[in-house]
Amino acid sequence: MKPNPDLNHNIQMPVNPRPIAIIGAGGIVHDAHLPAYKKAGWVVFGIYDLSKPKAQDLASEFEIPIVFDSIGQMVQAAPQDIVYDIAVPASVLAEVLEIIPENAVILMQKPMGENIQEAEEILRICRRKNFTAAVNFQMRFIPAVAAAKKLIDSGVLGQLHDIEIKMNIYHPWHLWEFLFKVPRMEMLYHSIHYMDLMRYFFGNPKGIYAKTLKHPHMMQLASTRSTIILEYDDVIKSNINTNHGHDFGLKHQESFIKFEGTKGAIKTTLGLNINYPEGVPDTFEYITIEDNEAREWKSVDFNASWFPDAFIGSMANVMCFAEGSESVLINAAESAYQTMELVEAAYASSDGGGREIKYRYEQQ
Ligand SMILES: NC(=O)c1ccc[n+]([C@@H]2O[C@H](COP(=O)([O-])OP(=O)(O)OC[C@H]3O[C@@H](n4cnc5c(N)ncnc54)[C@H](O)[C@@H]3O)[C@@H](O)[C@H]2O)c1
Repeated sequence: MKPNPDLNHNIQMPVNPRPIAIIGAGGIVHDAHLPAYKKAGWVVFGIYDLSKPKAQDLASEFEIPIVFDSIGQMVQAAPQDIVYDIAVPASVLAEVLEIIPENAVILMQKPMGENIQEAEEILRICRRKNFTAAVNFQMRFIPAVAAAKKLIDSGVLGQLHDIEIKMNIYHPWHLWEFLFKVPRMEMLYHSIHYMDLMRYFFGNPKGIYAKTLKHPHMMQLASTRSTIILEYDDVIKSNINTNHGHDFGLKHQESFIKFEGTKGAIKTTLGLNINYPEGVPDTFEYITIEDNEAREWKSVDFNASWFPDAFIGSMANVMCFAEGSESVLINAAESAYQTMELVEAAYASSDGGGREIKYRYEQQ
């Protein structure tokens, strides 16, 4: 029987952490970026937001020494080895990137623009300015997901053939004012993480079936529920099912990823999405069936979670790649662009509708 790998140490940290300059002082920077950098012991050099009071509030809460009046001023003052951490609405990403100097190291929040044309423009800017650029698909660095990747790559689960991601939750959309104005919502801003994760484990699918829907109580939002099937071959099953409108208490809320291989399986719950953003604890259970007649599952407690720990992972990988201690930029802009292609195809599938049925009889 193969020994299971050590599941507790999955994130490579930089040898020489770089200072971080933050652009955007919104909810995600407050809830995840800054707590992550504090936990990692990294230096935040300064912060800028269009709304100076918001930047000032975060600066005093997290002891950030400088609040800048403009991105230009930040760029002038920044040391050579700075990492720009950009967390602004997707629609303004390109204009922000234009102000960042050539050869910079950048981590930008997802999504990479609001549609594939904007993603293309962002990628073009990153290449023209020779950025080392990544998009913050930090779900790949959730401790439970990193552990799942390690277990699967070690081969103990056999051939991976099924990933199911299910979110039956109640999401406080009122926290993101800008989402009420966007023409694409659930798949672009939320299920994009899950589509990206499917790519991380299975590679690029050859096709996609998707339907994204409004919820009767959230008609102001473009959509809040989606069913997505990624098509690979006639064996791999890759399903995403989200409903953010389950306003019936916590009892039957679900937030999980299930992986099945030919020799084992993993089920992990992501507590963050339940009672967001406080969340409930994650769980991680796995089984390998070799020498396991009783079919007993093991559980691992990482004492770490999506917020803020995954945000340490995504930034650590950027810093490691920039210093040369890691050869793969896991969330490289080129990879993120492919996730955007998947999202674009998902909207085309949803807008195009299913196969039409011509009923033969008017009544059953
Ligand atoms: N898990 C995740 O990966 C995750 C979670 C939440 C949000 N996000 C992403 O992070 C981004 C920000 O989300 P949020 O929840 O913080 O939103 P938010 O509305 O709370 O904050 C956005 C901030 O950006 C600022 N801003 C807008 N234009 C700017 C500009 N040109 N220059 C500087 N600042 C500008 C606004 O003033 C605001 O403070 C979004 O793209 C969102 O998709 C990612």
